[in-house]
Amino acid sequence: MTDKPEKKLPFHLRGNYAPVMDEIDATDLAVIGTLPPELDGRYFRNGANPQSGFSPHWFAGDGMIHGIRLREGKAEWYRNRWVQTRALNEGARSIGKDGSVDRTVGVANTHVVEHAGKILAVVESSFPHELSPELETIGVYDFDGKLESAMTAHPKMCPVTGEMHFFGYAFTAPYLTYNRVDANGVLVQSEAIDVPGPTMIHDFSITESHVIFMDLPVIFDFELAMKGSMPYRWDDDYGARVGVMPRGVAGVQPTWFDVEPCYVFHPMNSFDVKGDDGSVNQIVIDTARYPELWRQESTTFKNDSKLHRWTLDLAKGTASERALDDRTIEFPRVADDRVGLHNDVGYAVATFEDQNSIVRYDVNSGASAEHDFGNTRIPGEAVFVPRDGATTEDDGYLLMYVYDKTDETSEFVVLDAQNIAAQPVARVPLPQRIPFGFHGSWIAD
Ligand SMILES: [Fe+2]
Repeated sequence: MTDKPEKKLPFHLRGNYAPVMDEIDATDLAVIGTLPPELDGRYFRNGANPQSGFSPHWFAGDGMIHGIRLREGKAEWYRNRWVQTRALNEGARSIGKDGSVDRTVGVANTHVVEHAGKILAVVESSFPHELSPELETIGVYDFDGKLESAMTAHPKMCPVTGEMHFFGYAFTAPYLTYNRVDANGVLVQSEAIDVPGPTMIHDFSITESHVIFMDLPVIFDFELAMKGSMPYRWDDDYGARVGVMPRGVAGVQPTWFDVEPCYVFHPMNSFDVKGDDGSVNQIVIDTARYPELWRQESTTFKNDSKLHRWTLDLAKGTASERALDDRTIEFPRVADDRVGLHNDVGYAVATFEDQNSIVRYDVNSGASAEHDFGNTRIPGEAVFVPRDGATTEDDGYLLMYVYDKTDETSEFVVLDAQNIAAQPVARVPLPQRIPFGFHGSWIAD
């Protein structure tokens, strides 16, 4: 393809956003450096990869998982597979021409997670699709028929209880539904949550005591829906609020805290702050916060999200806000075993202009460090995996795919989370380019 026609394509179909068209398998991959033998499992990452070569929006492409299998210090295989959905195979749409919604249809393109022995490819409009450890699609998964809402692509696994918490949002009432799945995979609680309108809610968070919802002013727009575009836009009149709902109690609505209008795709983490008597008196929520989103139209992304902290005072019913850093960041993560618990460390991708880094934040001290990939190498989301016998939350590795635009190649990279600026622990050159995608997980054996 020459430069000229490619430039006419929307950003999400150009350069390393462009889809790859082959599903391939490669085995016994060469390793530069040393893969820690304790990394025994699979790193799976999902992303939008439209099979037709075209999608109207970055978020609308068919889901494709890129997976790498590590064992005993070896990279046993790399493979990539489309999630076999009815959207992919039949051109089915989740929203019918009459406005009806079929949650069994979806592109399954945003995240891939494991809970209670099931690997799920998730997109926020639909039910999840279950995958095998070899990346074959098993089918739509609806929790034995109990799921009645969509499922966010960002469920939260509680490291204390083993539960999975998630929500679904919709443009018809109920606009927001909360679901809780026990450690055995049984859906045990569903609650309709009262919110003023149908906002786009991409992610949420938990603490030990509460579930946290963000009701922010990016709201469903019927006219945009009829045009086939991403049907959400900024609304100056909607306001912005964060809701905290006690965990494990049926029939209780959240308490809402007004915040400055903004948009958040991704929180980094949330945790309780307890008083001397052991009761929770504050909740801290760190997020990648955008000052606004989609005021003009819903197809472009202004790269201006920054790490930001809300502190909710439960007694006073007030929220205070402050920026934690001035870097532009996205894809914030913490160690899986700190989700909902007090964390000192978090990680994010900083790709802005010529900056291509993975940043490590010491969120409470304000310190930070980064791994700078240079001008031509661009990392995706970093996933933390603890070292065997780790005694601190940062004792482990960061896994990610990195794209090099000089030769249009990609690598799987392992960094030392405690010494992030150092040379990678290991690099695995991959047999094809990995397009920029969304989220992934380490699925240990
Ligand atoms: Fe996301």
